Amino acid sequence: MKLAERMSRIGVESAFDVLVRARALEAQGHSVVHLEIGEPDFPTPAHIIEAAKKALDEGWTHYGPTQGQPDLREAIAETVSRTRGINVGPQHVSVVPGGKPIIFFPMLALLEPGDEVIYPNPGFPIYESMIRFLGATPVAMPLEEGRGFSFDLDLFRDRLSDRTKMVILNSPQNPTGGVIPREDLKVIANLLRERDVIILSDEIYSRIYYGEPPVSITSFPGMLEKTIILDGFSKTYAMTGWRMGYGVMPTWLVEAVTKLMVNSNSCTSSFTQRAGLAALKGPQDCVDRMVAEFRRRRDAICQGLNEVPGFRCAVPGGAFYAFANVTATGFDSKELADLLLTEYGVSCLTGGCFGEYGEGYIRFSYANSLANLNEAINRIKKAAERWQPAVVAR
Ligand SMILES: Cc1ncc(COP(=O)(O)O)c(C=O)c1O
Repeated sequence: MKLAERMSRIGVESAFDVLVRARALEAQGHSVVHLEIGEPDFPTPAHIIEAAKKALDEGWTHYGPTQGQPDLREAIAETVSRTRGINVGPQHVSVVPGGKPIIFFPMLALLEPGDEVIYPNPGFPIYESMIRFLGATPVAMPLEEGRGFSFDLDLFRDRLSDRTKMVILNSPQNPTGGVIPREDLKVIANLLRERDVIILSDEIYSRIYYGEPPVSITSFPGMLEKTIILDGFSKTYAMTGWRMGYGVMPTWLVEAVTKLMVNSNSCTSSFTQRAGLAALKGPQDCVDRMVAEFRRRRDAICQGLNEVPGFRCAVPGGAFYAFANVTATGFDSKELADLLLTEYGVSCLTGGCFGEYGEGYIRFSYANSLANLNEAINRIKKAAERWQPAVVAR
């Protein structure tokens, strides 16, 4: 039996493949420091787990409304309105199993062959995968290390065309940790305001930042009407395995996403939605503590990486990734990531996993303890003895 032709165009997320390789090495007795996977290493806060247990006992074990439970949608609308300085209601919210479906469903509802989608590169690999899967045309926007991994705005203007149907923004960003400055967003908003385009604003790391809070493009006049905000519980509340996220979008798109949900999931798990409500309504100091710890780790890993000969690592403003430029080592970044895993037991991702403009970089997720991060840095410094003479000679 042949698979449908479209399956030849769908991609994968390499982090999961590298994790499998790293686990296989561990099974053979090797020690591996895991800096590949993008999920908080903290447990889900206890009051959220309690809310889920209580919900199970209370019988939240049946189908619920496809769009999401009304009180949860109300709480999401209130949170998103407050944090973005906008005014949305529960009718604008779709609750779905994770943040990813807010890439999958709206793209499925909107994109056709011939449509162009501008997306960040390096970027979350699912964007390009889905654009290609749907037969639309990916238009890569290279991120500029020298601009804190934001777009070159002149290039962005040039890449806009009559066929541009969607623009994807992601801030704070995976894999670079970059945060798009307010002034850049203003320029982007001005360029898009009169155009018939939809913006997918991936704000899944909206609560994980270390300087100025990230700005949502929806806070600029005329943008809310043409934007899908993607956010969720995975990163903010360390709930990656619960599979719960949401989108905030115009009601005509909510209707389309609801139809796709009816045809796929029926609804998001009922008792996890009760836990989500507890997450939003409960104490937020758990998030503050996690972010404070991430900041300590960010400072430690960036300092350590910058001490490695041939590495250069910009200090990221958000998320929990350090994206080091490794071109001066003379190694191809994929070869280098392989070497670090197989010979030194440091599992990380080559920038090429995030698109062609990620070549020359390695992503280190610092969702791991300070002790493990220090161990990883020591191992990388040991590995650097291999290329140090070449760097010094240059
Ligand atoms: C930029 C970005 N968007 C979306 C997601 C998906 O999040 P979820 O696990 O909630 O589906 C991730 C997860 O790594 C991500 O990094």
